[in-house]
Amino acid sequence: SQYQKGVKHLCENGIARVPNKYVLPVVERPNIQGRETNDGNSQIKLPIIDFAQLQGPERSQVLKTMAKACEEYGFFQVTNHGIPIDVINSMIDVSNRFFELPYEERAKYMITDLRAPVRYGTSFNQIKDGVFCWRDFLKLVCNSLPDILPFWPSSPVDLRQSAVTYSEKTKFLFAMLMKAVLESLGLVGDTEDDENEEEEEAFKQFQDGSQLMIINCYPPCPEPELTLGMHPHSDYGSLTLVLQDEVEGLQIRYQGDWFTVRSIPNSFVVNVGDHLEILSNGRYKSVLHRVVVNSMKSRISVASLHSLPFETVVRPASRLINESNPRLYKDTDFASFIAYLSSCDSKRKNFLESRK
Ligand code: SIN
Ligand code: FE2
Repeated sequence: SQYQKGVKHLCENGIARVPNKYVLPVVERPNIQGRETNDGNSQIKLPIIDFAQLQGPERSQVLKTMAKACEEYGFFQVTNHGIPIDVINSMIDVSNRFFELPYEERAKYMITDLRAPVRYGTSFNQIKDGVFCWRDFLKLVCNSLPDILPFWPSSPVDLRQSAVTYSEKTKFLFAMLMKAVLESLGLVGDTEDDENEEEEEAFKQFQDGSQLMIINCYPPCPEPELTLGMHPHSDYGSLTLVLQDEVEGLQIRYQGDWFTVRSIPNSFVVNVGDHLEILSNGRYKSVLHRVVVNSMKSRISVASLHSLPFETVVRPASRLINESNPRLYKDTDFASFIAYLSSCDSKRKNFLESRK
């Protein structure tokens, strides 16, 4: 159908109303007028992790903030991350230019196989989705880069260069954050005892782990109150690092309501994924989130999803299980996630539920 060409294409042809294909049932629509909350504002102030402080004498205090953030919100924001500002700006800039290419150029990468390492698409699963989301995306698997790079888009000419640099920098940041997360759970530490070997090994696995970048484009929407840029979902993986431009839209579920994440210049939004919830045996939460769109501005985000190598089996850490903390999750792996994805439409709720 025409909708499979994406929302950017739809908008380029000029529309005044949201087509039925994107209209959500009333109860699932966003209340973008803002809700009554304690401070009369639908924004949420997430805990801030100052990455520079994490490397200094305040580390143990920062780890406590991180633990609390992962338990209470499943989200935090990272400042002073050390990734050069031009790497960040180039990534946002080249992403914008990719989506501004003629449709025929973008369509070269439109592949509907969910396992394809390079995939341009719209909504979530454009074959299966009953109601479409107001979103186009470019998905790039970042593992085995020398093999995969020739398949990444060749236009804009600087896309590969900018995206490779960005993926390397975010992977390093992820590994450092993951080490902190494991430390906050008591799974790695300074001690050199034998018991830690298993978890030190786990950390090395994260360094060699899987990385998936998803560049999202949410064009202005004539009736943003009828639809969503992304339906509620939790993320597969251990941590997701999200870079958003200055336009807000990401919302998280907190105490039964939806709240907008503030856009802090030159920062990352980091969230706990299903794998980390499983690894922590439920202590850290993989929280539902969604994206609202607006009628004024196009929005770009770059989500970098990180976890263990694709073939690894994920299970609760043995150290976190005892008589008073029984194991809460089954083993899982990438293949079962792909099977789950293929079986559902964009209104998937939670892969995690099937692992309990
Ligand atoms: C997501 O990756 O779930 C949303 C990213 C965003 O557009 O903020
Ligand atoms: Fe997500």
